[in-house]
Amino acid sequence: MLSQFRPRWPLSRGAGAAALTVATLGFLAACSGDYPNSVFHARTDFNRDTDALFQLIIKLGVVVFILVFALLIVTMVKYRSRPGQREPEHVHGNTTLEILWTIIPALVLLWIAVPTVKTIFKTQAPAPAGSLLVQVTGHQWWWEFKYPELGITTANELYLPKGRTVNFELKTSDVIHSFWIPALGGKRDLVTNHTNHIWFTPDSLTEKAFNGVCVEYCGASHANMRFRAFVVEAADFDSWAAHQKTTAAYTLPKPDTTKPAATTKTAAAKTTAAPALPVAPAAAVTQTGYSFPTADMPKHTMAFSPVPDGLTFDEGLLANGDPARGAQLVAGAGACAGCHTIAGAGLASPIGPNLTHIGSRNTIGAGLFPNDAKHLALWIKNARLMKPGIMMYTLGKDQIDPQTKKVTATPLLTDAQIADIVAYLRALK
Ligand code: CUA
Repeated sequence: MLSQFRPRWPLSRGAGAAALTVATLGFLAACSGDYPNSVFHARTDFNRDTDALFQLIIKLGVVVFILVFALLIVTMVKYRSRPGQREPEHVHGNTTLEILWTIIPALVLLWIAVPTVKTIFKTQAPAPAGSLLVQVTGHQWWWEFKYPELGITTANELYLPKGRTVNFELKTSDVIHSFWIPALGGKRDLVTNHTNHIWFTPDSLTEKAFNGVCVEYCGASHANMRFRAFVVEAADFDSWAAHQKTTAAYTLPKPDTTKPAATTKTAAAKTTAAPALPVAPAAAVTQTGYSFPTADMPKHTMAFSPVPDGLTFDEGLLANGDPARGAQLVAGAGACAGCHTIAGAGLASPIGPNLTHIGSRNTIGAGLFPNDAKHLALWIKNARLMKPGIMMYTLGKDQIDPQTKKVTATPLLTDAQIADIVAYLRALK
Protein backbone atom coordinates (compact mmCIF):
# COMPACT_ATOMS: atom_id res chain seq x y z
CA MET A 1 0.00 0.00 0.00
CA LEU A 2 2.80 2.35 0.92
CA SER A 3 4.65 1.49 -2.26
CA GLN A 4 2.20 3.68 -4.18
CA PHE A 5 3.71 6.70 -2.43
CA ARG A 6 7.29 5.73 -3.00
CA PRO A 7 9.26 8.91 -3.65
CA ARG A 8 10.78 9.40 -7.05
CA TRP A 9 14.27 10.79 -7.51
CA PRO A 10 13.98 14.20 -9.14
CA LEU A 11 17.01 13.41 -11.36
CA SER A 12 17.93 10.43 -13.45
CA ARG A 13 21.07 8.57 -12.35
CA GLY A 14 23.15 10.07 -15.17
CA ALA A 15 22.03 13.62 -14.38
CA GLY A 16 22.64 13.03 -10.68
CA ALA A 17 26.19 11.83 -11.31
CA ALA A 18 26.84 14.83 -13.57
CA ALA A 19 25.54 17.26 -10.91
CA LEU A 20 27.74 15.61 -8.28
CA THR A 21 30.81 15.84 -10.56
CA VAL A 22 30.20 19.55 -11.25
CA ALA A 23 29.72 20.25 -7.52
CA THR A 24 32.93 18.36 -6.63
CA LEU A 25 34.95 20.15 -9.33
CA GLY A 26 33.59 23.52 -8.15
CA PHE A 27 34.55 22.66 -4.58
CA LEU A 28 38.07 21.64 -5.59
CA ALA A 29 38.52 24.69 -7.84
CA ALA A 30 37.72 26.92 -4.87
CA CYS A 31 40.74 25.53 -3.05
CA SER A 32 43.25 26.37 -5.78
CA GLY A 33 44.39 29.68 -7.24
CA ASP A 34 45.92 32.82 -5.89
CA TYR A 35 43.77 35.13 -3.77
CA PRO A 36 46.00 38.08 -2.90
CA ASN A 37 43.23 40.03 -1.15
CA SER A 38 42.19 37.12 1.04
CA VAL A 39 41.81 37.63 4.80
CA PHE A 40 43.66 34.33 5.34
CA HIS A 41 47.15 35.64 4.66
CA ALA A 42 48.08 35.96 8.33
CA ARG A 43 50.23 39.06 7.90
CA THR A 44 49.10 40.56 11.25
CA ASP A 45 48.18 39.40 14.76
CA PHE A 46 44.60 40.51 14.06
CA ASN A 47 44.23 38.28 11.01
CA ARG A 48 45.86 35.31 12.75
CA ASP A 49 43.45 35.60 15.71
CA THR A 50 40.35 35.80 13.53
CA ASP A 51 41.72 33.07 11.25
CA ALA A 52 42.16 30.73 14.26
CA LEU A 53 38.50 31.28 15.17
CA PHE A 54 37.41 30.63 11.61
CA GLN A 55 39.44 27.41 11.45
CA LEU A 56 37.95 26.18 14.73
CA ILE A 57 34.39 26.85 13.61
CA ILE A 58 34.94 25.27 10.20
CA LYS A 59 36.51 22.14 11.73
CA LEU A 60 33.74 21.70 14.29
CA GLY A 61 31.19 22.41 11.57
CA VAL A 62 32.69 19.72 9.33
CA VAL A 63 32.57 17.14 12.16
CA VAL A 64 28.91 17.96 12.87
CA PHE A 65 28.09 17.91 9.15
CA ILE A 66 29.67 14.47 8.64
CA LEU A 67 27.96 12.98 11.72
CA VAL A 68 24.52 14.35 10.85
CA PHE A 69 24.68 13.36 7.20
CA ALA A 70 26.08 9.89 7.98
CA LEU A 71 23.16 9.28 10.35
CA LEU A 72 20.71 10.67 7.83
CA ILE A 73 22.00 8.49 4.99
CA VAL A 74 22.11 5.34 7.16
CA THR A 75 18.53 6.00 8.27
CA MET A 76 17.32 6.71 4.74
CA VAL A 77 18.86 3.50 3.39
CA LYS A 78 18.05 1.22 6.32
CA TYR A 79 14.48 2.32 6.85
CA ARG A 80 13.46 3.15 3.29
CA SER A 81 10.04 1.87 2.20
CA ARG A 82 9.95 -1.56 0.62
CA PRO A 83 7.19 -3.31 -1.34
CA GLY A 84 4.66 -4.91 0.99
CA GLN A 85 6.10 -3.28 4.08
CA ARG A 86 3.69 -2.35 6.85
CA GLU A 87 3.45 1.19 8.08
CA PRO A 88 5.96 1.47 10.97
CA GLU A 89 4.86 2.04 14.53
CA HIS A 90 4.53 5.70 15.55
CA VAL A 91 6.40 6.69 18.69
CA HIS A 92 6.41 9.91 20.64
CA GLY A 93 9.16 11.16 22.95
CA ASN A 94 12.47 9.66 24.00
CA THR A 95 13.89 11.41 27.08
CA THR A 96 17.44 10.08 26.73
CA LEU A 97 17.68 11.15 23.09
CA GLU A 98 16.21 14.58 23.78
CA ILE A 99 18.66 15.23 26.62
CA LEU A 100 21.55 14.09 24.42
CA TRP A 101 20.65 16.26 21.47
CA THR A 102 20.29 19.27 23.72
CA ILE A 103 23.54 18.76 25.62
CA ILE A 104 25.78 18.00 22.61
CA PRO A 105 24.94 21.21 20.65
CA ALA A 106 25.22 23.22 23.89
CA LEU A 107 28.76 21.86 24.41
CA VAL A 108 29.68 22.60 20.79
CA LEU A 109 28.39 26.18 21.16
CA LEU A 110 30.36 26.60 24.38
CA TRP A 111 33.49 25.33 22.60
CA ILE A 112 32.99 28.07 20.01
CA ALA A 113 31.83 30.82 22.39
CA VAL A 114 34.80 30.82 24.77
CA PRO A 115 37.54 31.57 22.19
CA THR A 116 35.15 33.91 20.29
CA VAL A 117 34.50 36.07 23.34
CA LYS A 118 38.23 36.04 24.20
CA THR A 119 39.09 37.25 20.68
CA ILE A 120 36.41 39.96 20.81
CA PHE A 121 37.80 41.26 24.11
CA LYS A 122 41.35 41.19 22.76
CA THR A 123 40.60 43.03 19.52
CA GLN A 124 38.29 45.57 21.18
CA ALA A 125 40.76 46.45 23.94
CA PRO A 126 42.73 49.71 23.69
CA ALA A 127 45.89 49.48 21.57
CA PRO A 128 49.10 48.59 23.43
CA ALA A 129 51.24 51.48 24.67
CA GLY A 130 53.79 52.70 22.15
CA SER A 131 51.60 52.03 19.13
CA LEU A 132 51.89 54.28 16.11
CA LEU A 133 48.78 56.47 15.94
CA VAL A 134 47.21 56.97 12.51
CA GLN A 135 44.11 59.13 12.30
CA VAL A 136 41.94 57.96 9.43
CA THR A 137 39.21 60.26 8.13
CA GLY A 138 36.76 59.03 5.54
CA HIS A 139 35.58 61.56 2.97
CA GLN A 140 33.25 61.11 0.03
CA TRP A 141 35.24 59.44 -1.62
CA TRP A 142 38.83 59.38 -0.43
CA TRP A 143 40.92 58.65 2.63
CA GLU A 144 42.89 61.09 4.74
CA PHE A 145 45.72 59.65 6.83
CA LYS A 146 47.30 61.72 9.58
CA TYR A 147 50.27 60.68 11.70
CA PRO A 148 49.89 63.31 14.45
CA GLU A 149 53.05 62.25 16.32
CA LEU A 150 55.06 62.69 13.11
CA GLY A 151 53.35 65.82 11.78
CA ILE A 152 52.28 64.14 8.54
CA THR A 153 49.03 64.46 6.60
CA THR A 154 48.66 62.42 3.45
CA ALA A 155 45.93 60.84 1.38
CA ASN A 156 45.02 57.44 -0.03
CA GLU A 157 48.42 55.83 0.64
CA LEU A 158 49.23 54.39 4.02
CA TYR A 159 52.79 53.56 5.09
CA LEU A 160 53.18 51.10 7.97
CA PRO A 161 56.49 50.08 9.55
CA LYS A 162 56.97 46.33 9.87
CA GLY A 163 56.77 45.04 13.43
CA ARG A 164 55.13 48.07 15.03
CA THR A 165 51.53 48.04 16.24
CA VAL A 166 49.48 50.65 14.42
CA ASN A 167 46.51 52.19 16.20
CA PHE A 168 43.96 53.54 13.72
CA GLU A 169 41.63 56.23 15.00
CA LEU A 170 38.66 56.16 12.65
CA LYS A 171 36.43 59.17 11.93
CA THR A 172 34.31 60.42 9.07
CA SER A 173 33.80 63.93 7.75
CA ASP A 174 30.42 63.09 6.21
CA VAL A 175 28.56 59.75 5.93
CA ILE A 176 29.40 56.29 7.28
CA HIS A 177 32.38 54.59 5.63
CA SER A 178 34.22 51.40 6.58
CA PHE A 179 37.97 50.84 6.68
CA TRP A 180 39.29 47.52 5.46
CA ILE A 181 42.62 46.15 4.28
CA PRO A 182 41.54 42.50 3.88
CA ALA A 183 45.01 40.96 3.89
CA LEU A 184 46.05 42.92 7.00
CA GLY A 185 43.00 43.07 9.22
CA GLY A 186 39.76 44.82 9.83
CA LYS A 187 37.18 45.88 9.07
CA ARG A 188 35.69 48.71 11.09
CA ASP A 189 33.17 51.47 10.42
CA LEU A 190 33.85 55.19 10.41
CA VAL A 191 30.75 56.53 12.09
CA THR A 192 29.46 60.11 12.17
CA ASN A 193 30.08 61.91 15.50
CA HIS A 194 31.91 58.93 16.92
CA THR A 195 35.52 57.75 17.04
CA ASN A 196 36.23 54.07 16.40
CA HIS A 197 39.53 52.28 16.80
CA ILE A 198 41.20 49.26 15.30
CA TRP A 199 44.79 48.15 15.79
CA PHE A 200 47.07 45.47 14.44
CA THR A 201 50.74 44.73 13.90
CA PRO A 202 51.93 44.04 10.35
CA ASP A 203 54.83 41.68 10.99
CA SER A 204 55.72 40.22 7.62
CA LEU A 205 57.40 41.53 4.50
CA THR A 206 56.38 38.55 2.37
CA GLU A 207 53.95 40.96 0.73
CA LYS A 208 54.46 44.69 0.99
CA ALA A 209 51.65 46.34 -0.97
CA PHE A 210 48.01 45.83 -0.06
CA ASN A 211 44.64 46.95 -1.31
CA GLY A 212 42.39 48.91 1.03
CA VAL A 213 38.72 49.57 0.37
CA CYS A 214 35.64 51.24 1.75
CA VAL A 215 33.14 48.53 2.66
CA GLU A 216 30.12 50.56 3.68
CA TYR A 217 27.96 51.95 0.90
CA CYS A 218 28.56 55.69 1.02
CA GLY A 219 27.22 57.13 -2.24
CA ALA A 220 27.90 57.35 -5.96
CA SER A 221 31.64 56.61 -5.84
CA HIS A 222 31.66 54.15 -2.93
CA ALA A 223 33.27 51.55 -5.17
CA ASN A 224 35.91 54.15 -6.14
CA MET A 225 36.96 54.87 -2.55
CA ARG A 226 40.14 52.84 -2.40
CA PHE A 227 43.59 53.17 -0.96
CA ARG A 228 46.91 51.35 -0.80
CA ALA A 229 48.82 50.24 2.27
CA PHE A 230 52.57 49.64 2.16
CA VAL A 231 54.33 47.64 4.86
CA VAL A 232 57.99 48.68 4.84
CA GLU A 233 61.17 48.26 6.86
CA ALA A 234 61.40 50.60 9.86
CA ALA A 235 64.31 52.50 8.26
CA ASP A 236 62.33 53.07 5.04
CA PHE A 237 59.34 54.21 7.08
CA ASP A 238 61.52 56.72 8.97
CA SER A 239 62.96 57.99 5.69
CA TRP A 240 59.46 58.37 4.19
CA ALA A 241 58.16 60.09 7.33
CA ALA A 242 61.07 62.51 7.55
CA HIS A 243 60.52 63.58 3.96
CA GLN A 244 56.72 63.74 4.10
CA LYS A 245 56.73 66.27 6.90
CA THR A 246 58.86 68.71 4.94
CA THR A 247 57.14 71.45 2.96
CA ALA A 248 56.59 71.25 -0.80
CA ALA A 249 59.65 69.87 -2.55
CA TYR A 250 59.25 72.31 -5.43
CA THR A 251 59.43 75.95 -4.53
CA LEU A 252 58.45 78.71 -6.86
CA PRO A 253 61.56 80.04 -8.56
CA LYS A 254 62.36 83.73 -8.04
CA PRO A 255 61.41 85.92 -11.04
CA ASP A 256 64.32 85.98 -13.47
CA THR A 257 64.81 89.69 -14.22
CA THR A 258 67.82 89.11 -16.47
CA LYS A 259 65.71 87.55 -19.23
CA PRO A 260 64.64 89.74 -22.15
CA ALA A 261 61.02 90.91 -22.14
CA ALA A 262 60.25 88.96 -25.33
CA THR A 263 60.46 85.64 -23.46
CA THR A 264 57.86 86.87 -21.00
CA LYS A 265 55.49 87.78 -23.79
CA THR A 266 55.85 84.39 -25.46
CA ALA A 267 55.08 82.65 -22.21
CA ALA A 268 52.06 84.84 -21.59
CA ALA A 269 50.71 84.12 -25.04
CA LYS A 270 51.07 80.39 -24.49
CA THR A 271 49.12 80.38 -21.22
CA THR A 272 46.29 82.58 -22.36
CA ALA A 273 44.20 83.00 -19.20
CA ALA A 274 47.17 83.23 -16.83
CA PRO A 275 48.94 86.43 -15.83
CA ALA A 276 52.22 87.21 -17.61
CA LEU A 277 54.77 85.12 -15.84
CA PRO A 278 58.50 85.27 -15.57
CA VAL A 279 59.70 81.93 -16.81
CA ALA A 280 62.54 80.45 -14.87
CA PRO A 281 64.15 77.12 -15.70
CA ALA A 282 62.59 74.27 -13.77
CA ALA A 283 64.35 73.88 -10.47
CA ALA A 284 66.13 70.58 -10.05
CA VAL A 285 63.91 68.37 -7.95
CA THR A 286 65.59 65.79 -5.82
CA GLN A 287 63.60 63.38 -3.77
CA THR A 288 65.25 62.79 -0.45
CA GLY A 289 62.80 60.42 1.19
CA TYR A 290 61.72 56.84 0.61
CA SER A 291 58.53 56.13 -1.27
CA PHE A 292 57.21 52.74 -2.31
CA PRO A 293 58.51 51.99 -5.84
CA THR A 294 55.71 51.61 -8.37
CA ALA A 295 57.71 48.82 -10.01
CA ASP A 296 57.44 46.79 -6.80
CA MET A 297 53.66 46.92 -6.71
CA PRO A 298 52.17 43.52 -7.54
CA LYS A 299 49.61 43.49 -10.34
CA HIS A 300 46.57 43.23 -8.06
CA THR A 301 47.52 46.51 -6.36
CA MET A 302 48.00 48.51 -9.57
CA ALA A 303 45.43 51.13 -10.51
CA PHE A 304 43.45 49.84 -13.47
CA SER A 305 40.33 51.97 -14.00
CA PRO A 306 39.69 52.76 -17.67
CA VAL A 307 39.64 56.37 -18.88
CA PRO A 308 36.05 57.41 -19.70
CA ASP A 309 35.10 57.51 -23.38
CA GLY A 310 35.50 60.87 -25.02
CA LEU A 311 37.99 62.31 -22.53
CA THR A 312 41.30 62.98 -24.26
CA PHE A 313 44.42 65.03 -23.69
CA ASP A 314 47.01 66.24 -26.15
CA GLU A 315 49.85 64.20 -24.65
CA GLY A 316 52.45 66.02 -26.76
CA LEU A 317 51.94 69.05 -24.49
CA LEU A 318 53.03 67.13 -21.40
CA ALA A 319 56.69 67.12 -22.47
CA ASN A 320 56.65 70.94 -22.50
CA GLY A 321 54.86 71.45 -19.18
CA ASP A 322 56.68 74.02 -17.10
CA PRO A 323 56.54 73.51 -13.32
CA ALA A 324 57.21 77.20 -12.65
CA ARG A 325 54.18 78.27 -14.67
CA GLY A 326 52.23 75.40 -13.11
CA ALA A 327 53.14 76.60 -9.62
CA GLN A 328 51.89 80.09 -10.50
CA LEU A 329 48.62 78.71 -11.82
CA VAL A 330 48.06 76.53 -8.77
CA ALA A 331 48.85 79.34 -6.35
CA GLY A 332 47.01 81.99 -8.32
CA ALA A 333 43.79 80.42 -9.54
CA GLY A 334 41.45 79.99 -6.57
CA ALA A 335 40.30 76.63 -7.92
CA CYS A 336 43.16 74.64 -6.31
CA ALA A 337 43.62 76.75 -3.16
CA GLY A 338 39.91 76.48 -2.37
CA CYS A 339 40.21 72.79 -1.53
CA HIS A 340 43.83 71.62 -1.30
CA THR A 341 46.85 72.02 0.94
CA ILE A 342 50.38 72.28 -0.41
CA ALA A 343 52.49 73.03 2.64
CA GLY A 344 55.00 75.78 1.95
CA ALA A 345 53.30 76.88 -1.25
CA GLY A 346 50.49 78.94 0.26
CA LEU A 347 47.66 76.43 -0.17
CA ALA A 348 46.05 75.44 3.11
CA SER A 349 42.50 74.17 2.66
CA PRO A 350 41.57 70.87 4.36
CA ILE A 351 38.60 70.09 2.09
CA GLY A 352 40.39 67.92 -0.48
CA PRO A 353 43.42 65.62 -0.33
CA ASN A 354 46.70 67.17 0.83
CA LEU A 355 48.92 67.51 -2.25
CA THR A 356 52.20 68.51 -0.57
CA HIS A 357 54.02 65.38 -1.77
CA ILE A 358 51.60 64.13 -4.42
CA GLY A 359 54.50 63.32 -6.75
CA SER A 360 55.63 60.59 -4.36
CA ARG A 361 52.33 58.69 -4.57
CA ASN A 362 51.62 55.74 -6.81
CA THR A 363 47.97 56.42 -7.54
CA ILE A 364 45.52 59.31 -7.89
CA GLY A 365 41.75 59.65 -7.43
CA ALA A 366 41.75 57.46 -4.27
CA GLY A 367 43.52 54.53 -5.86
CA LEU A 368 41.67 54.64 -9.19
CA PHE A 369 44.34 55.72 -11.67
CA PRO A 370 48.12 55.47 -11.91
CA ASN A 371 49.88 58.66 -10.87
CA ASP A 372 51.40 59.49 -14.25
CA ALA A 373 51.35 62.69 -16.29
CA LYS A 374 48.58 61.52 -18.62
CA HIS A 375 46.13 60.47 -15.92
CA LEU A 376 46.89 63.52 -13.80
CA ALA A 377 46.17 65.75 -16.82
CA LEU A 378 42.89 63.96 -17.57
CA TRP A 379 41.95 64.20 -13.88
CA ILE A 380 42.49 67.97 -13.76
CA LYS A 381 40.67 68.37 -17.05
CA ASN A 382 37.49 66.56 -16.01
CA ALA A 383 37.73 64.78 -12.66
CA ARG A 384 33.97 64.42 -12.41
CA LEU A 385 34.00 62.34 -15.57
CA MET A 386 36.87 60.22 -14.18
CA LYS A 387 35.04 59.58 -10.90
CA PRO A 388 31.29 60.14 -10.68
CA GLY A 389 29.76 62.44 -8.11
CA ILE A 390 32.91 64.03 -6.71
CA MET A 391 33.37 67.57 -5.41
CA MET A 392 36.47 68.35 -7.53
CA TYR A 393 35.37 70.69 -10.32
CA THR A 394 35.61 70.04 -14.00
CA LEU A 395 38.45 72.42 -14.84
CA GLY A 396 39.19 71.80 -18.53
CA LYS A 397 38.18 74.51 -20.95
CA ASP A 398 35.11 73.55 -23.04
CA GLN A 399 34.55 70.40 -20.98
CA ILE A 400 31.01 69.45 -20.04
CA ASP A 401 30.60 69.03 -16.29
CA PRO A 402 28.80 65.65 -15.97
CA GLN A 403 26.97 66.84 -12.85
CA THR A 404 25.56 70.11 -14.21
CA LYS A 405 25.55 68.85 -17.83
CA LYS A 406 26.89 72.26 -18.85
CA VAL A 407 30.13 73.82 -19.99
CA THR A 408 31.25 75.78 -16.94
CA ALA A 409 31.14 79.50 -17.66
CA THR A 410 34.19 80.75 -15.73
CA PRO A 411 37.56 80.85 -17.53
CA LEU A 412 39.01 77.39 -17.34
CA LEU A 413 42.29 75.71 -18.06
CA THR A 414 43.60 75.00 -21.55
CA ASP A 415 45.47 71.74 -22.16
CA ALA A 416 48.76 73.72 -22.20
CA GLN A 417 47.99 75.17 -18.76
CA ILE A 418 47.03 71.75 -17.45
CA ALA A 419 50.37 70.41 -18.75
CA ASP A 420 52.14 73.11 -16.69
CA ILE A 421 50.17 72.18 -13.55
CA VAL A 422 50.94 68.50 -14.14
CA ALA A 423 54.67 69.31 -14.39
CA TYR A 424 54.44 71.17 -11.08
CA LEU A 425 52.45 68.47 -9.24
CA ARG A 426 54.77 65.74 -10.49
CA ALA A 427 57.70 67.72 -9.15
CA LEU A 428 56.14 67.61 -5.65
CA LYS A 429 57.92 64.40 -4.77
CU1 CUA B 1 33.14 55.24 1.75
CU2 CUA B 1 31.88 53.44 0.86
